[in-house]
Amino acid sequence: MENSVFVQRRAQLAAALQPDSVALISAASEQTRSRDTEYPFRQHSDFWYYTGFNEPDALLIISNRADLPVAQLLCRDKDPAQEVWQGRRLGPAAASETLQLQAAALTEQSSLLLQAINGSSRVYLDITENSALLHQVTAQIQLLKQREKRGDKAPAQLVDVTQLTAAQRLIKDQSEIAVMRRAGEISAQAHIRAMQYCRPGRFEYQLEAEILHHFALNGARYPAYNSIVGSGENGCILHYTDNSSELKAGDLVLIDAGCELAGYAADISRTFPVAGKFSPEQAELYQLVLDAQYAACNAVQPGSNFAKVTAAAEQVLTEGLLGLGILQGELQQLISDKACKQYFIHGIGHWLGLDVHDVGAYKVKGEEQTFMPGMVLTIEPGLYIPAGSPTEPRWWDLAIRIEDNLLVTAEGHENLTTAVPKEIEAIEQLMAAADAGN
Ligand code: GLY
Ligand code: MN
Ligand code: MN
Repeated sequence: MENSVFVQRRAQLAAALQPDSVALISAASEQTRSRDTEYPFRQHSDFWYYTGFNEPDALLIISNRADLPVAQLLCRDKDPAQEVWQGRRLGPAAASETLQLQAAALTEQSSLLLQAINGSSRVYLDITENSALLHQVTAQIQLLKQREKRGDKAPAQLVDVTQLTAAQRLIKDQSEIAVMRRAGEISAQAHIRAMQYCRPGRFEYQLEAEILHHFALNGARYPAYNSIVGSGENGCILHYTDNSSELKAGDLVLIDAGCELAGYAADISRTFPVAGKFSPEQAELYQLVLDAQYAACNAVQPGSNFAKVTAAAEQVLTEGLLGLGILQGELQQLISDKACKQYFIHGIGHWLGLDVHDVGAYKVKGEEQTFMPGMVLTIEPGLYIPAGSPTEPRWWDLAIRIEDNLLVTAEGHENLTTAVPKEIEAIEQLMAAADAGN
């Protein structure tokens, strides 16, 4: 992303603060995986959004005060001995030039933070995190209060910065949309690859491996979340990530996987038959989820909201479940009772962006958040019928989810993940062609 994008985002945040205020946004720290090995580093999404700087242990100070710069960065100093072991550091001098902000070494954090807090009317930070930063800020406020006689001034309020950052992140700009389009394409192709590779006798984790391989080969080194590859009854476990079972002919396999590209998540689910051909029951239930998914997608446009999209999906699901004899009763009663929720056990979708379950309000002053151009969301109806459910046993252990990523546009929406097929015939053709090729 162009540097000007980050400069502009910081200016926008500064403008959203109350007069004479500062906002503090921390970088992530490295997390221990075991003993002295770490998890791959993942930057804090807010910090990334305003800096594009991918090092741990840094602090961004944004201000709209006349006597402070709009943006100051505190980061790790250069240290040739450490860098030989742990990797390169940009250091304050290069950071200042590269990121177009004022930068200083972390050793100056205490004094620069005190300077920023002293005289500010409000300090915005993540007050939900019980962080070292929050402790440092409250200690400094106590100090400033003790020093009020000599002219220091403690801020009157600590304010949650995440409400401002979430509101800003909810509407994606052109550079974000371009990245998310590409993340959607890469992830869609990875799902195609898993469909092509799938055979009875292979293992769920081998499909996962195909997907991760495709992500990394295409510039997205990591998945946005742990991939779910659940065959047969495993599909009924919503966050199944064991991915350890052998794939059996006659079962469906549900894959929920998306890459992370330049920080942005894709989030796709597809469900297909292990042996490449849907059984009659599988086809009927699958077509129902697909019809609900189309109905929900069609309701995504400016002015709509998650409640309307949910209602569109639930109408189709309830009619369909009644038609198949899985639900019994009177249609309108079943709809108002939300009877389909017995088998559609999660929400219709969520905001998508730097986080897979991205920030952004779902309600505004008690009302549904209205969809606007630039918002990106998932649409993901599903049906899960575990063994023992009050249905004919022929439906048992079927689990189906179909999930796409939609950008709200002025005209309606753009589906960012259409490249992977979801029509029954298209999936069967793709898998048959892959079979013939092997
Ligand atoms: N992959 C998580 C979700 O679909 O919400
Ligand atoms: Mn998903
Ligand atoms: Mn999702």
